[in-house]
Amino acid sequence: MAAKSLQPQRVNLKESFASLKFVPRFFKEIKRVNPTLFFTNLICRLISALLPVTMLWIGKLIIDEIILQINIETQDLTSLWLYIGLEFALAIASDLLNRLTTLTDALLGDQYSIQSSVKIIKKTSELSLSQLEDSEFYDKLERARQQTTGRVGLMSNVLNQAQDLIIIASLITGVVVFEPWLIVLLVVSIIPTILNEIKFSGTSYSLARSWTQERRELDYLRYAGASDVTAKEVKLFGLAHYLADRFKVLSEKYYLASKKLSQQRALWGSFFNIIGTSAYYGAYVLIVVRTVSGVLTIGDLTFLSGSFNRLRAKLQGLFTRFTAITERALYLQDYFEFLDLDPRKQSGDKAPIENKNLPLPKAISQGFEFRNVGFKYPGSESWVLKGINFKLNVGEKLALVGENGAGKTTLIKLLLQFYLPNEGEILLDGTPIQDYDPAAYHDRFGVIFQDFVKFDLTLRENIAVGEIKELNNQTRIESAADKSLAQEVIRIMDKGYDQKLGRRFKHGKDLSGGQWQKIAMARAYMKDAEVLILDEPTSALDARAESETFKRFIALTKGKTAVIISHRFSTVRIADRIMVLKDGGVLEFGTHDELMKNKSLYSELFNLQAEGYQ
Ligand SMILES: Nc1ncnc2c1ncn2[C@@H]1O[C@H](COP(=O)(O)OP(=O)(O)OP(=O)(O)O)[C@@H](O)[C@H]1O
Ligand SMILES: [Mg+2]
Repeated sequence: MAAKSLQPQRVNLKESFASLKFVPRFFKEIKRVNPTLFFTNLICRLISALLPVTMLWIGKLIIDEIILQINIETQDLTSLWLYIGLEFALAIASDLLNRLTTLTDALLGDQYSIQSSVKIIKKTSELSLSQLEDSEFYDKLERARQQTTGRVGLMSNVLNQAQDLIIIASLITGVVVFEPWLIVLLVVSIIPTILNEIKFSGTSYSLARSWTQERRELDYLRYAGASDVTAKEVKLFGLAHYLADRFKVLSEKYYLASKKLSQQRALWGSFFNIIGTSAYYGAYVLIVVRTVSGVLTIGDLTFLSGSFNRLRAKLQGLFTRFTAITERALYLQDYFEFLDLDPRKQSGDKAPIENKNLPLPKAISQGFEFRNVGFKYPGSESWVLKGINFKLNVGEKLALVGENGAGKTTLIKLLLQFYLPNEGEILLDGTPIQDYDPAAYHDRFGVIFQDFVKFDLTLRENIAVGEIKELNNQTRIESAADKSLAQEVIRIMDKGYDQKLGRRFKHGKDLSGGQWQKIAMARAYMKDAEVLILDEPTSALDARAESETFKRFIALTKGKTAVIISHRFSTVRIADRIMVLKDGGVLEFGTHDELMKNKSLYSELFNLQAEGYQ
């Protein structure tokens, strides 16, 4: 990792303001989540905002009335009781409004965070694999995902800010009427706060942001050092110390950077506060002097000192909150930028994919064709595939063989449009595949990846993911399990199809590698897909199960197009044609018998394995 300056880069004031440009869109989203709650919240806040000045004013009337009544002979307490009653009613109303505001804040926040998480999941699925593998995109996703609670906080912050602005305006009006000079002192008393905020605004965000990569590494180390998935190897290889040390070194660097920042903040904060407090006491002296000399009444004194104190607190709050808002709004920027990512954009400076969204042919008639296809992974200089030319005919079973790293899985990823070739093109029935509607295109495939996902869900769900809309179609699921030999796994589960798999949840059960593969194979049978792709789906099966699986597969998918990747030649020979990949190119291509006659790599490897089995 490159050495990193411990100093956070500053986000300057201009950037802080610029970050606010997403706030209106943010509120539009919140409003859409639940308009009733949203407007209830606004109304509560508006009424609440007018209460402080009203209550201070009534407080002043009460005190003046008390002093008046003390000094006259025939007392009449009607107005006094009225004021006190009013004050009491307002105090209760204020509390109720506050509670209602907090409640609606929380409800809105919860609903909003659910909705934004859903949006992030959906958006992630739209993005191309090359985007997700690009670390810059990934950082955006990470920041968008992490900040869900921050966004909820931002909502309350912005609304509180608006509410406080109304309170401040009303209090200032009251103060100006009595003692305009106080405003000057007020300004003096909050200047230090402003300076403080200007000095530090955005720094903690930028620290966190410029450390996104490192924090991701920290998360990873924490995971690698303490998780059930890695436990076996961490124990056996004695990796705990190594991982812990790496974690410590990296996190101490981060700690030092943020410690420095916190110390500076604390130091400057106390210095500025001294100035602010002095100004407040200056104002207090002014009010007291004016009251003693008879210009102001005692009621005025309580009103003014109360107003001044509140004003100062509110104004300070306004500025510190502004920093919090702009910091959080910067995360908002990450969130919306993530949602706005163009799924067609490719990494580097390649032109975005222009999608024509053509409908797919009802049934594939000619098949696929690779024309001079060449491909490098984004950010890599070496060709993984180069000059690939072949046709995959309808109904044909094609087997791909080749050494580890020969590019077999990559070829499948290209066929599935997870990546675009750097050279040449891939056609389906004569049309470049990227011109078709991507979702409709994917819908034609049933694919079992080499690194298929073992979902920590029930067995039923783990099969149904092949065609999730058939989750409740028990007949379909059972027949898929039957075809893939997964029935044997289900039979020995206490809870049958409802057995939870994986160890993440209580009562979850893990399966053996081969058992998992049988479940995964069932996914391919869930969908009545036209094209089936199996990337080493049987590598963990015992020899009997493997040969049976393939024989079944061939029989059950008669007439369907399929690509099968396997390292076992007994399996491979069943295919109609075999393609041998080597050094990124097609070395041999033909039927088993043709390739055997060639006496080249295929026949050599075939004989080698055949000997091994003798
Ligand atoms: N996401 C990726 N980013 C960069 N390089 C990759 C990526 N995936 C694979 N590669 C590289 O591409 C080459 C081909 O990999 P591929 O997975 O296609 O091989 P394979 O033929 O499927 O091998 P195996 O038999 O081991 O499954 C390898 O050299 C690998 O290092
Ligand atoms: Mg592979």
